[in-house]
Amino acid sequence: MCGIVGYVGTDQCARLLLSGLRRLEYRGYDSAGIAIADEESGEVRLCRAEGKLDKLEQAYRDEPFDGNVGLGHTRWATHGKPVESNAHPHRAGRVVLAHNGIIENYLELKEELVERGREFSSETDTEVVAHLIDEAWSNSPQLSLHEATQAALDRIEGSYALAVMATENPEELVVARNASPMVIAHGGGCAYAASDIPAVLSYTRDFIFLEDGDTAVLRREGIEVFDAEGNSTERDVKTISWDPVSAEKQGYKHFMLKEIHEQPARITDTLRGRVSVDRGEVELPELRLDEQTVQKLDKIVFVACGTSNYAAQIAKYLIEEVARIPVETDLASEFRYRNPLITDNTLAIAISQSGETADTLAAIREAGELGARTLGIVNVIESTIAREADGVIYTHAGPEIGVASTKAFTTQLAAVSMLAIKLGRLTGRLDVEEARTLIEALREVPNHMEAMLEDTSQYEQLARSYHEARSFLYLGRGHQFPIAAEGALKLKEISYIHAEGYAAGEMKHGPIALIDNEMPVVVLAPKNSVYEKVKSNLEEVKARGGRIIAIGTEGDERLETFADDIIAMPDVAEFVQPMVSALVVQLLAYYIADFKGTDIDQPRNLAKSVTVE
Ligand code: M6R
Repeated sequence: MCGIVGYVGTDQCARLLLSGLRRLEYRGYDSAGIAIADEESGEVRLCRAEGKLDKLEQAYRDEPFDGNVGLGHTRWATHGKPVESNAHPHRAGRVVLAHNGIIENYLELKEELVERGREFSSETDTEVVAHLIDEAWSNSPQLSLHEATQAALDRIEGSYALAVMATENPEELVVARNASPMVIAHGGGCAYAASDIPAVLSYTRDFIFLEDGDTAVLRREGIEVFDAEGNSTERDVKTISWDPVSAEKQGYKHFMLKEIHEQPARITDTLRGRVSVDRGEVELPELRLDEQTVQKLDKIVFVACGTSNYAAQIAKYLIEEVARIPVETDLASEFRYRNPLITDNTLAIAISQSGETADTLAAIREAGELGARTLGIVNVIESTIAREADGVIYTHAGPEIGVASTKAFTTQLAAVSMLAIKLGRLTGRLDVEEARTLIEALREVPNHMEAMLEDTSQYEQLARSYHEARSFLYLGRGHQFPIAAEGALKLKEISYIHAEGYAAGEMKHGPIALIDNEMPVVVLAPKNSVYEKVKSNLEEVKARGGRIIAIGTEGDERLETFADDIIAMPDVAEFVQPMVSALVVQLLAYYIADFKGTDIDQPRNLAKSVTVE
């Protein structure tokens, strides 16, 4: 969703702001803008444009300006159409600002401001904040920009990451955070602000992660942070290990393809130092769960959205199988509003790549308030879920830029697999020998994936044959059912082809009516405990003339009788099959979308991190 980048320093900053916005493109946006203070006059100039950054860059080239204090923004429309007048930054009097989040009480604030004679030039909720700051400042000119911002924030309800600057005040940038991420950094006479680390990762790796309620003043000489009560405070500086290159395409056609190919290395990173085949143990100290607490658990409840929800569904199969603890999974957006049954002996686990998804955050907070112990399985370090949960398991996927989740998903699967083994050992349901076997299988996954990624030409051929289909059905059983759903989600989000993921056994309760010789049916049929059942479903599809793409274990000749096309996956233990088949459905979706020429890394209407409800 929206992105912010800000700079105060000695360099002309237009290029830095525009390139920072490029690095935020992956979040999804539909308009963009920059504001820069003129060094001589102190006047703040704006350049904004509807649509993609190319348009903003063209508008900037037509009338260039520069200076050494500025901010930039990419907007994903929530209040008001994606047109230039609604693009950020917004100006009210002397104040110019950019905002991520939603101001919930903006309508009543707007009414008040209009009554007091304030004129609005956009349909956004954000503009009220600019007016409130400017009004506070005009009424009490002795206030600093920071104090005027603080006064305005006292009136606001909702979520925000804000970056504020002002005419005739060209020395500083004020930022604020509440339920929407904001990082700041200082070094070498420059200060940076960003809603996401990649925006300024080329300039610094040492960041302060603002906490909810924090505000900060950024100047060349340094940064001052204030807590929610307005007291000056210290926040730790954290060093990010990602290197800027990991946020670049490195010769791949799309970030998504690069991220698909990175999976063996990122899964290895996620397992590194946490699993020991020799001891048959998984070490997850961040879990902060002892044997006694685990023995007392009445259930585990997962909350997540989108692809992360499919990781949760697979976790249910793995944990129930290995640790024999009851597991429920809930879409976070549903959990919040259904009066869930939670006790002090419930473990609630949020799975989220970004750690900022609004529904997932609200759901895990709710579970915590109802008495559950909470755990986050999160990729982005220091994200809100990671900080608020009682424990956290970081997936080490690195920055995921493509909107479609790939390496984030398979590292989530690595994390939940480790969690299942850990819980199995703590409940005593899994002995050392069994744990060793599972850990061995897990550790082999990256090698299998490497081999699968060596030659992807088959997917290009399949894309040629199937890209014209109007609709796909994906079928799977057991833990291949969530993979079927994930395969369908991947296909629809990046290729815009309708697709549905179904439990194979459910097919004859409805979707079978759709099957004809136009309808490709992707059947996940690796050799495992439900193989024979899936094969019967395959026969049912075949009998109705469906076009079958079977994803099966290499060497399985029986599939040839039914399938039009077969994609072979290596013969791996059932416990780790989801990670391997996930790679297959990702590649299939990618190559079909690539053949169709869609905007794979930033599909229409989608945002990388959904920070609004
Ligand atoms: O950051 P999160 O894991 O919480 O995001 C959840 C979903 O928005 C995300 O997985 C989404 O479904 C992806 N676009 C799927 O590829």
